Amino acid sequence: MKKKILVTGGTGYIGSHTVVELQNAGYEVVIIDNLSNSNIEVLDGIEKISGIRPVFAQLDLNDKEGVRNVLKENPGIKGIIHFAASKAVGESVHKPLLYYRNNLVTLVNLLDLMPEFHIDGIVFSSSCTVYGQPDILPVTEDAPIKPALSPYGNTKQINEEIIRDCIHADLPFKSIILRYFNPIGAHPSAEIGELPNGVPQNLVPFVTQTAMGIRKELSVFGDDYDTPDGSCIRDYINVVDLAKAHVIAIDRMLENKSDEKLEIFNLGTGRGVSVLELIHAFEKGTGVKVPYKIVDRREGDIEKVWANPVHANTVLGWTAKETVEDTLVTAWNWQLKLRERGIQ
Ligand code: UD1
Repeated sequence: MKKKILVTGGTGYIGSHTVVELQNAGYEVVIIDNLSNSNIEVLDGIEKISGIRPVFAQLDLNDKEGVRNVLKENPGIKGIIHFAASKAVGESVHKPLLYYRNNLVTLVNLLDLMPEFHIDGIVFSSSCTVYGQPDILPVTEDAPIKPALSPYGNTKQINEEIIRDCIHADLPFKSIILRYFNPIGAHPSAEIGELPNGVPQNLVPFVTQTAMGIRKELSVFGDDYDTPDGSCIRDYINVVDLAKAHVIAIDRMLENKSDEKLEIFNLGTGRGVSVLELIHAFEKGTGVKVPYKIVDRREGDIEKVWANPVHANTVLGWTAKETVEDTLVTAWNWQLKLRERGIQ
């Protein structure tokens, strides 16, 4: 019997895909999510794919007493995967305190409760945003952390520092910090994916909505960058590949496969793809046109960043497998499913 894991933000985009992979691997899952950026039907999708409906508590992690009660009602949780966070960069600029409360206080609450409930380890969702514009590409885990460009980015840096300080203080738990590059796509079953929430800020949901005709055209933010075609470059990683890395990380931590109390891994493909290349890969994979126009650069955008994933490849034994083109087809199939369900 595999161990019991608390997944915060388990009905969210990356969280839901990870719950599926955990259950497929035999773990028992308890989700805490306040449904601020997801909905309860995600549990149906998870159940359809994995055959198991995870335990679910609708709760805000700022409610420490509430979390304590969930941990009491579900004894024997051994590890936490902490996804729950606010993640809209633009919103964070206007509502910094909301981001500091939602992304910092919540982590402090969880870390505070871990010793009380003998929870041995926490996997934390960080981001390549901590590197800013790296001086050397592909970027490795020991690249310098650059000043954050938004309160959201700052919360990820501070979260990492909070965890580092706890490990330094020898608190009785371990941690693995995972720095995601750009997660895209959906489960191949199209039962779960990224739920729309207003006008998408991220590239791929905007691409699929434009291809569907929900948006008139896609704005490509700048074609005068120092890149081969002038548009920005990112490392787009398939969300199921990403989810699988969490199962390996939790197993490594809880089965004591490493002596380190804190480890950090980049999760990316190692391949840089420009905005224009991504649009063309989508059109090639799906046969659907995406009308677009070039507009001014977006403030705060990084010119180019992609991962050196060798540390994760060798130490975790994990590699991103799916191609961008195939992954974009899963994003399209999910968009078609949303239309079927009448969701825009
Ligand atoms: C952004 C955040 C990052 C966060 C991540 C969460 C910034 C600077 N970074 O990453 O901190 O972790 O979201 O998912 O905001 N693009 C267009 N047109 C669009 C949308 C995007 O051309 O309508 C371009 C962007 O300029 C960028 C690329 O597509 O070059 C990817 O953008 P996006 O999906 O927003 O991700 P990031 O900016 O990399």
